[in-house]
Amino acid sequence: MNEFFLNKLETMLDKDRLSHSIGVCETAKKLAEINNADVKKAEIAGLIHDCAKCFSDEKLIEIAKKNGIEIDDVSRAQPNLLHGPVGAIIAKEEFLVDDEETLNSIKYHTTGCENMSLLDKIIYLADYIEPNRDFPNVYDIRRAAYKNIDEGLMLALNNTIEFVIKRGLLIDIKTIKARNSLIIDCI
Ligand SMILES: [Fe+2]
Ligand SMILES: [Fe+2]
Repeated sequence: MNEFFLNKLETMLDKDRLSHSIGVCETAKKLAEINNADVKKAEIAGLIHDCAKCFSDEKLIEIAKKNGIEIDDVSRAQPNLLHGPVGAIIAKEEFLVDDEETLNSIKYHTTGCENMSLLDKIIYLADYIEPNRDFPNVYDIRRAAYKNIDEGLMLALNNTIEFVIKRGLLIDIKTIKARNSLIIDCI
C-alpha cells in the first residue's frame, strides 16, 4: 500500500473512514485481479476515493465552484454527494494522480454514471461491499460482485435506489443513467 498516500490520508480522514478506505483498496485489488483490470490503478483509486469525505458542505461547495464542477439541485440539497467530484480534484492536486481513468472512478464512486468503465465499476462496488460494510443485502451483493461484476453492480444500483426511495431522499440522475446504460449494455 502506498505510504505517501496513506500518511496523507491519515491527516484528512477520521479513523473509521481510514479503515473503510483500506478496505476499499483491498477489495478493489481483488476485483481488479478477477476482472483482469489494472490492479495498481484500482488500489490507488480505492485507497483515496474518499479523500474529500470529511470536508464540510461549505468547503465541498467552494472547491466545486472554483473548479467548475456542476452543482445541480440534487447536490445543492445534499452537498455530501460532491465528495466524489471534489475528491477527484484533490486526488489530482494533492495526491498528484494524473491518470484520467483513476480520477474518473473517484469522481463517480458515489453516484455511478452512464457507461461506466471497468475501473468505475470496480471502485463503485468495492466501496459498496468492502469488509467493514454491514447492511441488509450486503452478503448477496458481495457474492454477486465476485462472481460477475455487472450483476453485482446491478444489485448495488438497485439497492441504492430502493434505499433512497424508502427514505424519501433525492435520487441523483447519474445513478439512474448508470442503471439504464448497464441494462442496455447487457441486452
Ligand atoms: Fe464516498
Ligand atoms: Fe467510500
